[in-house]
Amino acid sequence: MARINDNYPKLPVSYLFSEIARRVEAYKQSTPNADIIRLGIGDVTRPLVPSVVKALHDAVDEQAVAATFRGYGPEQGYDFLRNIVIENDFIPRGIKLEADEIFIGDGAKSDIGNFGDILSVNSTVALTDPVYPVYVDTNVMAGRGGDSVDGRWSSIEYLPCTAKNNFVPELPTSSAEIIYLCYPNNPTGTTLTRERLKTWVDYARSSEALILFDAAYEAFITEDDIPHSIYEIEGAKEVAVEFRSFSKTAGFTGLRCGYTVVPKSLQCKTLSGEKVSLNRLWNRRQTTKFNGTAYVVQRAAEAVYSPQGRKEVRDNIAYYLQNAEIIRSGLQRLGLNVYGGISAPYIWLQTPDGISSWNFFDRLLTECNVVGTPGVGFGPSGEGFLRLSAFGDQERVREAMQRIENWKI
Ligand code: MLT
Repeated sequence: MARINDNYPKLPVSYLFSEIARRVEAYKQSTPNADIIRLGIGDVTRPLVPSVVKALHDAVDEQAVAATFRGYGPEQGYDFLRNIVIENDFIPRGIKLEADEIFIGDGAKSDIGNFGDILSVNSTVALTDPVYPVYVDTNVMAGRGGDSVDGRWSSIEYLPCTAKNNFVPELPTSSAEIIYLCYPNNPTGTTLTRERLKTWVDYARSSEALILFDAAYEAFITEDDIPHSIYEIEGAKEVAVEFRSFSKTAGFTGLRCGYTVVPKSLQCKTLSGEKVSLNRLWNRRQTTKFNGTAYVVQRAAEAVYSPQGRKEVRDNIAYYLQNAEIIRSGLQRLGLNVYGGISAPYIWLQTPDGISSWNFFDRLLTECNVVGTPGVGFGPSGEGFLRLSAFGDQERVREAMQRIENWKI
C-alpha cells in the first residue's frame, strides 16, 4: 500500500478559514433566519473594475478567433505583464528588475506555499506570531515543523508581535534560515517602517538567511515611511523573495493572479556549500509543475496598470480603507483596544475582559450575527484578539458596527 506524507496528519483537521466556514454554516443550519454579516476571511466584495472587465472581454474575443487564439503560454507569464509590472510597481520606487525576475502566478497563496519546494526540508524557519496560517501549515507539510506542542511547532521559531512590542517583531534568536515577513501585516494590520525593515535585511545579509516577503497588502499603504517593496532597502535583492497579489489590490480573489519576484542575485547553498541561484531553481520548479496563468487573466491584470484601471482600482481601495475607518472608530468608541486598519484592510482588536478568541468569535456570531476571525487561529500570540476584515459592503459594515455598538458584551 502507498504511504502518505506523514506530516499531513500532524496538521489540525482543517485550514483556519475552512474551520470558520464550517462553524458559520452550522450556525446557519441551526438559525436559518440569522442575517449574517461576514467580516471574517479577507475576501473582496466590490466587483471587478470596468477596465479589467473590458480587458477580459477583449481577451476572450481573441481566444475565439484562430488568428489570435493562444494555447499554452510561457509558464513564467507573458512579457506584456512582466514588463508593465516592473514599469509600474518597481521603477517609480527606484528598483531595477528584469522581466525574467518576475514570475506571474495564480496568486500569492500558492506561490508562498510552493516556494518551499526549492528549499531544504532541513532549513530552520522563523515567523512572526500571529501569522498568515499558510506559512506555518506549508512548512509543516514539508516536514519543517517538528511537533505541535501547546499550539506551537517545535522546529519553528515564533517571533511574538503583541501590543507590548507595538507589533514589531524582534530579530530571531535561533539561526533561522528562512524568515517570513508580511507587511502591511495580515492579520494585525500593522506596518513596518523603512528603518525597521532595514534591520531585517541587514540581519539576513549578515546571517545568510532568506526572507520571504509577502507584500500582498502593499496597495493599502497610506502612511509615509512605509516601504511598498522590500527592494526599497539596499541589499534586499541578495536576500529576499517578494510575493505580490492582484487579489486585494484589484479584486482578483476569484480571478486569481499574482506574481513573485526572485532576483537573479539571490543565492542559497547546497548541502556541500555550493551557491545556487534561486531564480534558476524557481524557474525549473514552475516550468515543471505550473502551466502558466490564463492568458485572459493576465490581460485583465495588465489592465489594472492602465491610467483608467489605476484610478478605478484606487477608488476601490479607498472604499475598503473607509470601511476600515468605520470599524476602527466604532470599536474605539466602545473603549476597545484596536490596532491596524490605517495602511491595511484588517483591524486587530483585543477582546474585552480577557475573553478567549474563540469564545469571542462564537459570541459575536451568535449574539450579533457578525463573523470575525479568532486571533488565536493565526498563532499563540493571537490569543485574546479577533480580526475584522474591511472588505465588506459598506452598508453591511455600518450595520455590523451598529450591532456591535448596541451589544452588551
Ligand atoms: C485572509 O483572510 O487572511 C486572506 O483572505 C487569506 C488569503 O488571502 O488567502
